[in-house]
Amino acid sequence: MADTRGKLGFNWFFVHPMRSASGKSLKIRVRAARRADLDALVELERRVFATDRLSRPALRRLLASKSARVTVAEVGSRLVGAAVVLFRVHTTVARLYSIAVAPPMNGKGVAVVLLAVAERGRGPQVPLHASRSP
Ligand SMILES: CC(C)(COP(=O)(O)OP(=O)(O)OC[C@H]1O[C@@H](n2cnc3c(N)ncnc32)[C@H](O)[C@@H]1OP(=O)(O)O)[C@@H](O)C(=O)NCCC(=O)NCCS
Repeated sequence: MADTRGKLGFNWFFVHPMRSASGKSLKIRVRAARRADLDALVELERRVFATDRLSRPALRRLLASKSARVTVAEVGSRLVGAAVVLFRVHTTVARLYSIAVAPPMNGKGVAVVLLAVAERGRGPQVPLHASRSP
């Protein structure tokens, strides 16, 4: 990731510069999700998935879980993407449970940045296994 800065730990964040279709400069901020993101995460599920959406209670549980890491991408104050990674004790393999990027932001590399940050969240090398169908 070019020109990416941030720090590791619960409050880590990365800022990733990219360009919109009109050539305008966009800054994608990627950070650990907070409980206050719940409404925006529910809305993202509604916009991105036609079926098999994560419910509000499921998202609330994931946000509170020690074995889940929810990472979100924002443009300004708008949440445009999210990745949910699940961890298990005694294994170095993580599971990519869900990844979603809101339609206007598709194809701009947001998922790539989300994944890169989600993988770093638990140490230098966490192989991710994808699992959830769209
Ligand atoms: C899949 C999804 C997260 C990709 O987000 P994105 O920000 O548009 O992806 P990026 O721009 O970072 O592209 C990353 C790569 O994935 C590829 N890609 C993007 N969407 C894809 C899709 N639906 N199928 C296959 N490949 C896809 C891109 O071509 C790109 O590959 P490249 O680097 O070789 O060119 C997004 O399209 C989405 O939310 N889709 C609906 C939800 C979904 O299917 N989630 C996955 C199952 S939980």
